[in-house]
Amino acid sequence: MGFGDGKVVDIHTHMYPPEYVKILESRTSIPLVRSFPGSPDPRLILLDTEVPILEEAEAAKARGVTPANIPGRPLTKHYSSLNQKMHFMETHEIDISVVSLANPWLDFLSASEAGPIAESINADFSRMCEEKCGRLFFFAALPLTAPRDVILASIAHVSNLPYCRGVILGTSGLGKGLDDPDLLPVFHALADARLMIFLHPHYGLPNEVWGPRAKENYGHVLPLALGFPMETTIAVTRMYLAGVFDQVPKLNMLLAHSGGTLPFLAGRIESCILHDGHLHSAGTKPKKTIWEVLSSQIYLDAVVYSDVGLKAAVQASGPEGHERLMFGTDHPFFPPLGSDEEGEWESVTWNGAAVRKAFGAEDGEDSEEGKKVRGVMGANAVRVLNLRRDGCR
Ligand code: URA
Ligand code: ZN
Repeated sequence: MGFGDGKVVDIHTHMYPPEYVKILESRTSIPLVRSFPGSPDPRLILLDTEVPILEEAEAAKARGVTPANIPGRPLTKHYSSLNQKMHFMETHEIDISVVSLANPWLDFLSASEAGPIAESINADFSRMCEEKCGRLFFFAALPLTAPRDVILASIAHVSNLPYCRGVILGTSGLGKGLDDPDLLPVFHALADARLMIFLHPHYGLPNEVWGPRAKENYGHVLPLALGFPMETTIAVTRMYLAGVFDQVPKLNMLLAHSGGTLPFLAGRIESCILHDGHLHSAGTKPKKTIWEVLSSQIYLDAVVYSDVGLKAAVQASGPEGHERLMFGTDHPFFPPLGSDEEGEWESVTWNGAAVRKAFGAEDGEDSEEGKKVRGVMGANAVRVLNLRRDGCR
C-alpha cells in the first residue's frame, strides 16, 4: 500500500490453526465444517442464521442430491495456512500482522477440554510468530468455559509468551455477558498483565430481530453488517453501565469494527444515563463518562470500510483520537468474489482508502494529516501493542 516510511500493521486478522479445523470437522452442531456435493471447498458454518440452510443442505446430501443452497462460506486455505497469510500480507504490503483465532474461539468447548486446547492453540500461534520473527504477533484465546483458576492460569501463561500482545474475547464472557461480576477477576488479571482485550462479536442478534420475513435470504448481510456491530455495542455498553471501567482503570480494550455503533451512539448513551430515574435514585451511574472511557481505555480498529464511520470513530476517541485507531483487514473473511483470491482484496483496499479519505491525506505525505494516516495504518499499533522484537531482521 506504500504508506511512506511507516510500517503497515494489520491488527484484525484471523486464523484457524489446523487443529481447530479438525475440531470443527468433528462437530455435529454449529460451529462446524462440512463438505457438500457441488462445493469444491469444505464449508465453514458459524452463524445461527445459517442453520436452516445447513439443515436443508444436510437433508439433500442424505438423499444424494446436490443442495440448492450451499450453507456457510468456503473454508479455503486462507483460514489455516501460514504461507497464505504471508502471501496476503505481501500482496497488500502489510509489514506486521497481529493474528487471532477467529470466532467463536473456544466458547463451545466443555469445561475440561477448554484449558488443554487453549494451551495447544496458543502454542500454535506462538510457533507461527516465532517462525516469522517480527512479522507476526498474536492475541491469545482464553479457555472461558473452564473453571476460574484455569482461566487465570491461562492468562498468566500467555502473558509470558514472547509474541502475545493480548487476548481475543467474544461478548459472552463466562456465559452471562461482559457485565457479569464473576468476570472482574479475569479483567483485573488481564489489566495487571497489561494484556489488551480485542473484543470481537460472533453471536449477532436473535433471528426474530430481522422481522416476520427473517427467513428471506439476504445471505449474511444483516447479521454481519448490523448484528455484529450491535452485539459489540451492547456488550461494551453493559460493561460501562456495570462500572467495569471504573473498577478496573488499567483495563484496555480494542473494539472490533470501530466499536460497532458506539462512536455514533455514545452521546445518546450519555443522555439516557443522565435522564434515567432508576440509576439516579440508586446512585449507580458510572463515574467516568463514556467519552472519558473512549479516550483512555478503549481503542478502535479501522475496519469500517468508509471515511464516514472512521471520522466518527476518531472524534469519539477524544482530542488525540487519531492515535487510538488501528488499521485491520478481517482476513480471511470477506474474500473477493469476482476476482482471484491470490490478488488484491477490496476489503483491504477499501479500509486503506477510507483512512486516507478520513484525514484527507495521501500516502507518505509530509504533513500532520499524513502523519495521522501513518499512525492509523501502523505506527499506533506498533506503539500501543509494542510490536518490536529484538533479534529479528
Ligand atoms: N464473519 C465472521 O464470522 N467473523 C468475522 O470476523 C468476519 C465475518
Ligand atoms: Zn474479525
